[in-house]
Amino acid sequence: MENTTQTQMPLVKVSAVTKKFGGFTALSNVDLVIAPGERVGLIGPNGSGKSTLVNCISGMLKIDGGTIEFAGENISSLPPHARVHAGIARSFQIPRPFKTMSVFENIMVVLNFSGNDRKHADDTRTTEERALDIVQGVGLFGKKDHVSASLTQVELRKLELARAMAANPKVLIADEALAGLSGAEVDEILDLIMGMKEKGVSVLMIEHIMSAVMRFSERLVVLVAGNKIADGLPQDVINNPEVIKAYLGE
Ligand SMILES: Nc1ncnc2c1ncn2[C@@H]1O[C@H](COP(=O)(O)OP(=O)(O)OP(=O)(O)O)[C@@H](O)[C@H]1O
Ligand SMILES: [Mg+2]
Repeated sequence: MENTTQTQMPLVKVSAVTKKFGGFTALSNVDLVIAPGERVGLIGPNGSGKSTLVNCISGMLKIDGGTIEFAGENISSLPPHARVHAGIARSFQIPRPFKTMSVFENIMVVLNFSGNDRKHADDTRTTEERALDIVQGVGLFGKKDHVSASLTQVELRKLELARAMAANPKVLIADEALAGLSGAEVDEILDLIMGMKEKGVSVLMIEHIMSAVMRFSERLVVLVAGNKIADGLPQDVINNPEVIKAYLGE
C-alpha cells in the first residue's frame, strides 16, 4: 500500500495539543497528522479524549497548549465557523439537526451558511439542486420533506453526514457515526463515509465498532487517558501489546 503521509504536506497537523478541564487533563501533548485524502481511525476507551480532540480541531474548545494547523496555517485561535469555511467539517456523536426543519431545509441551511462559498467554480447547479443531490447521495430523497424530528436513528445518522458533506469539506471528522446502528446499517453508513475518499476528502473516524474501524482505516491512532499510545498501520496497532492491554483486552 502506498503511504503518502511522509511526502505530502499534511492537511491537518495537531502538535503537542493539551486540553484541561479545571485540574483534569483531558489531552496531554497529543500529536496527530492527517494527509490529504487519508482515512484515519481514532479509537480509545470511553473518556479517553476522542471527542475532546475533535472539539479542539473543530474549534469548539480552546486548547491550553500546542498548535493545530490546517493546510499549513495555524488555525489554533480561529472560531469554529472560520474552520468550517476553511474546509473542516465534523459530525456529532449525537446528531444535531434543526429538528423542526425538513431534511431538505437542513441541507439548505448548511449550503447557505458555508457550502456556497466552498463549491467548485464550475458547479452550475442551483443551491436547491445541490441540496437535492446531497439528500439523494445519502439515500434520503424519499424523506426530503419530512421534519428531521420524525427520522429513525439510521436516517438521522445519514442526515448528520449529509450536513457535514454539504459544507464540501477537505476533512470530515466523524464522531461515532455508527453508534446504535444494526449490522446492515453500519455497512450502509460506512460505505458513505468510505466514499468520501473518491472526492479527495480526508476522514478522521472515531469509532468503537472494531470491524468497521479495521475496514475503514488506512492508519489507526489510539488514545488512552488523553495520551496517544499508538499510531500506525491498523494491523500493527491492534497487535501492539500496550493497545491490547489498555483497550482491546477490555
Ligand atoms: N466540557 C467538559 N468539561 C469537563 N470535562 C469534560 C468536558 N468534556 C469532556 N470532559 C471530560 O474529558 C474526558 C474525555 O472526554 P471525551 O468526551 O473526549 O471522551 P471520549 O474519548 O470521546 O469518550 P466516549 O468514547 O465515551 O465518547 C472525560 O473524562 C470527560 O468527562
Ligand atoms: Mg466521544
